[in-house]
Parts: sequence; structure tokens; C-alpha cells
Amino acid sequence: PSPLRLGLAGLGTVGIGVVKIVQRHADLIAARAGRPVVITAVSARDKTKKRDADLSGYAWEVDPVALAKRDDVDVFVEVMGGSEGAAKDATEAAIASGKDVVTANKALLAHYGQSLAEAAEAKGRVIRFEAAVAGGIPVIKALTEGLAANQMRRVMGVMNGTCNYILTRMQNAGLPYDVVFEEARQLGYLEADPNLDVGGIDAGHKLSLLAAIAFGTRVSFDNVELEGIGNVSIDDIRMADDMGYHIKLLGVAQMTGRGLEQRMTPCLVPADSPLGQLQGGTNMVVLEGDSVGQIVLRGPGAGEGPTASAVMGDVIDIARGFRMPTFGRPATGLVAATPAKSATP
Ligand code: NAP
Ligand code: HSE
Repeated sequence: PSPLRLGLAGLGTVGIGVVKIVQRHADLIAARAGRPVVITAVSARDKTKKRDADLSGYAWEVDPVALAKRDDVDVFVEVMGGSEGAAKDATEAAIASGKDVVTANKALLAHYGQSLAEAAEAKGRVIRFEAAVAGGIPVIKALTEGLAANQMRRVMGVMNGTCNYILTRMQNAGLPYDVVFEEARQLGYLEADPNLDVGGIDAGHKLSLLAAIAFGTRVSFDNVELEGIGNVSIDDIRMADDMGYHIKLLGVAQMTGRGLEQRMTPCLVPADSPLGQLQGGTNMVVLEGDSVGQIVLRGPGAGEGPTASAVMGDVIDIARGFRMPTFGRPATGLVAATPAKSATP
């Protein structure tokens, strides 16, 4: 069978992780995908930068839009980041050129996922984004495949590892927010714009994607009630602890009589519960369906290996010919519902 040819836009943490998996597991992937999967061309801003992988066999495009349009690319893998600019332009170009897309970019999808998915569907293409929500945890596949026969009641979880690191470090070491924030910066955990993490925005992006999939609504990030962790003090943490609770940045999405409710806010959770016990940069997603009951998924929400693992799972799905849209028009088979800002009329 002919190989599936990837154009890889972005050679940072996730992109290099993808290169390493493609190279290390070529045989395993070919066996599972039913055809070889190869990278034909790559893109990043700085061609001279030293990178932790052998890229010598790949064509190079400085412009990701040019990469997206190449004839020798079947699937455009977008791991550059950013909700505007290059990532958006190149993803649109890829879809217009009739390519399937795999992306880890939750910011792009939270803002434009709906229109991108509809554009892809109109072209008979798919856009897959398992890595965009909770990194290595296959939560989108759990919802769209394993739980497909359920009416979902609620999805919730801790979806930003940096915030969970900061909150658990404050809890465990008794350190104030500012000190731990600086520590997280030194460790390289924070996004280039830290407010994406500590403002709850990154986690809100992820919640809006999960909610759209779980409840068949349009992606509606603007309707997520957001509050970050910047106002959580060490006194709050101590007081919660005295009452048997831990503070977590918790996302909750549920369908109410007045529409979809989406909240990403610091919450008190029982200290001895699985969510309360969640340590460091780990993510946890809780899915509640009418037939299955409650499922808890826990694992690495970020990092080179885990995120690239999710990207490549999507690539292998496409290689196998699995082409069901994840969201988009009601062709997904899901019932369209109106998102509400909150349950308050
Ligand atoms: P990163 O390390 O900052 O790498 C970004 C890459 O994109 C770099 O190679 C950069 O080129 C390239 N790039 C940026 N703008 C470009 C442009 N205009 N033209 C061409 N190349 C461009 O980012 P990352 O951590 O790998 O994250 C990538 C995506 O995955 C983001 O959407 C992020 O939210 C998502 N994600 C990341 C993680 C994680 O653990 N890191 C987890 C889940 C999802 P240069 O190298 O030349 O600068
Ligand atoms: N900044 C994100 C986090 C990266 O801390 O979870 C993974 O999406």
C-alpha cells in the first residue's frame, strides 16, 4: 500500500516528539495502520536551530502555508501553536488543498474549530485533535468511540498541568502563589503567555472542545465561565485543608434545562477523592454517561512523548481510513444544542 505522507509544521517539543515516534516505530505503525506512515516535509521558523532529531531526510519549508499545500503531503500535522497567524492560515490552506489535518492546538480550535471542522467536512476531509485536550490521555477517543452509545451527563476534570503543579506545590510545601509561580517559570512549565495557564484560558479552551463533543453543541469557548488561580492564596489552601478539601482548577460541563453550562474555576474538592489526590502536572478527566456511569481517566497532560503519542494516534486513525468527523455539522450524528453562559437565565 502507498505510504501516508505527513507534512509536519512545528519542530518544538511536540513536533520533535512526532519525528521520534515516526522514526522509532516505523514498522509498528505500518503494521497497525495498514500502510507505512512517513514524514515528507517539515516547517519551523529557524532552519539553523539545533534539534534533537535527524531531519536530514525531509524537505524543508520555512512557510507553513507552502508546506500545507505541497502535493507530497496527505496529512498536515500542525504543532506550531497560536490561535491566529501561521497556524490558522496554514490549517485553512491545508483544508482548502484537500488535506486531512491533525493538530494539538487547542487555542486555534477553541476559537475556530467549528468553522475549520465544517470546512474540512465540506471537502470530505477530517480534522483530528486528540492531543489538544489533556495531552496523552485519549479522552476524545473515549467519548467518540467507547462511549458513543451514551447520553453524556457531565464531563469534568483538571486539564491544565501547570495550574495543578502550582496548586499542589502550594499545598504540599506551604509556599505562597508568587513563589511557586516563579518556580514554575524557572522549570519552563508556563506558556509563553503565562495567563493562558494561570488565567484558566488554556484549560477553558480544552473544556470547550470536550463539551462540544460530549453534548453535540457548537464549540463555544466564549460561553465558558472562567476564573484562574491567580487569586488563590496560601491561606485559602490552608483553610480548605482544615475542612478536608483541596483546591483544584476544575472544569465542569453539563447540560442543564437552560442549555450547556461550562465552568473552569478553582473549586474545593474532597482531599481524599481521586481529583483531590491529583498531584503535580498530571491531568484527570471524569466522564459521566447514562449507561456507563462514571469513568475516570488520569495521565500526562503535556510533554514531548505523551502529546506526540496522541498526535500519532490520530494519524494512524486517518491511515486506517477512519473518517468520522469529531465535531462540526450535525453530520456527526450528534444533536445540536444551544450553549448557555450558565444555568442562570
Ligand atoms: P514549541 O515547543 O514552542 O514549538 C513550536 C514550533 O512551531 C517551533 O518549532 C517553531 O519554530 C514553530 N513555529 C512557530 N511559529 C511558526 C511559524 N510562524 N512558522 C513556522 N514555524 C513556526 O511548542 P510545543 O510545545 O511543541 O506546542 C505545539 C502545539 O502543541 C501548541 O499548539 C501547544 O498548545 C500544543 N500542545 C503542546 C503540549 C506540550 O506539552 N508542549 C501539550 C499539548 C498541546 P522554531 O523552532 O524555529 O522557533
Ligand atoms: N500549558 C499546558 C498545561 C500544556 O500546563 O497543561 C499542555 O496543554
